[in-house]
Amino acid sequence: MSGVKIIGTGSYVPEFIADNNKFSEFLDTSDEWITPRTGIKQRHILTDKPNFYMGVQAAQRAIEDAGVNPKDLDLVLVSTCSPDFFYPSMACLIQKKTGAVNAAAIDVNSACTGFITAMDIAQKYLETDHYKKILIVATEKLSSQLDYTDRSMCILFGDAAGAAVVEKSDKPFHSMLGAAGDEFEALYCKIHYNSNCPFYDKEADHYNGIFDTFSKQNFLQSDGHAVYKFAVNAMDKAVRKVAEQRGIDLQDIDLVIPHQANLRIIKKATELLGISQEKVYTNIQNMGNVSSACIPVCLDELSKQGRLKEGMTVCFVGFGAGLTYGACIFDI
Ligand code: COA
Repeated sequence: MSGVKIIGTGSYVPEFIADNNKFSEFLDTSDEWITPRTGIKQRHILTDKPNFYMGVQAAQRAIEDAGVNPKDLDLVLVSTCSPDFFYPSMACLIQKKTGAVNAAAIDVNSACTGFITAMDIAQKYLETDHYKKILIVATEKLSSQLDYTDRSMCILFGDAAGAAVVEKSDKPFHSMLGAAGDEFEALYCKIHYNSNCPFYDKEADHYNGIFDTFSKQNFLQSDGHAVYKFAVNAMDKAVRKVAEQRGIDLQDIDLVIPHQANLRIIKKATELLGISQEKVYTNIQNMGNVSSACIPVCLDELSKQGRLKEGMTVCFVGFGAGLTYGACIFDI
């Protein structure tokens, strides 16, 4: 099985910062509550533009970093669970704005597991040899889905985008994806349909009015405890699985980039795995949870800091709505 080589990275983080104290101005909350329970000190919010704007910026930076001509990209693969439109896909918008005129364009939605899902898909496309260069973008504007009167959820998330240009490599790459659809109610955000269909029978709709006009039901809904429990187990399972596929000990992993949902989840899961905290990268303190953009934003930060060294064995691991989870392990 061939591998995936990351030849360029990029990210976009909105300028506007909402620190924990800003939330105390309109909610019954405090930095003293948020920081010890989540690790989050601040998050960035896109206040004046659509989500795809961030995706385009991150993509352009990754293309420039890779030194490739956008016309040579064969596929634009976009992960998002906060798209601007039902259609077209975000991938089509980013394809147009980046000048990737010869690329196919596909959106992926496995929520916060999305970047790992896209890596897994990219590996399979690259293996066909018909696709040589793939642009992967994860772009998320969670602020558009949050109820800012719900203090337990709105403090957790932020907005950002991350991107990578990848091509085929001879080095090993292993990945696994999993889903527990029966737990979907632990974390979801219902689509806001605005229908005037005269045949719709609201009484018979057992999902309780999916055609409802604007209501609190259209915001992100979550059972934080259920997600927490799922996340720790799923991360443990996923990392063990890819390490086993690769045939290495967990101690042989040089760097873990986990999904950044809660610092306590990351610490608990990596402690269970016996991976030392120096090998685990986090930026949740400054970014909050930016869903599928967490991992590529971390990746870009590490790349810009010169911390991605040739030969390193890196593991991405994540979980999210679905509930989904996954991991991949590869060499830089
Ligand atoms: N500020 C102050 N108090 C808050 C608060 C806030 N921002 N959010 C919740 N509380 C209150 C609750 O109302 C509750 O009060 P009560 O006991 O009077 O009812 C109390 O704090 C404890 O709430 P609880 O939900 O038990 O807190 P917790 O320690 O479990 O932490 C989460 C809650 C959401 C931080 C934690 O469960 C979590 O991170 N889960 C994962 C969620 C997630 O990341 N989802 C997306 C994954 S991709």
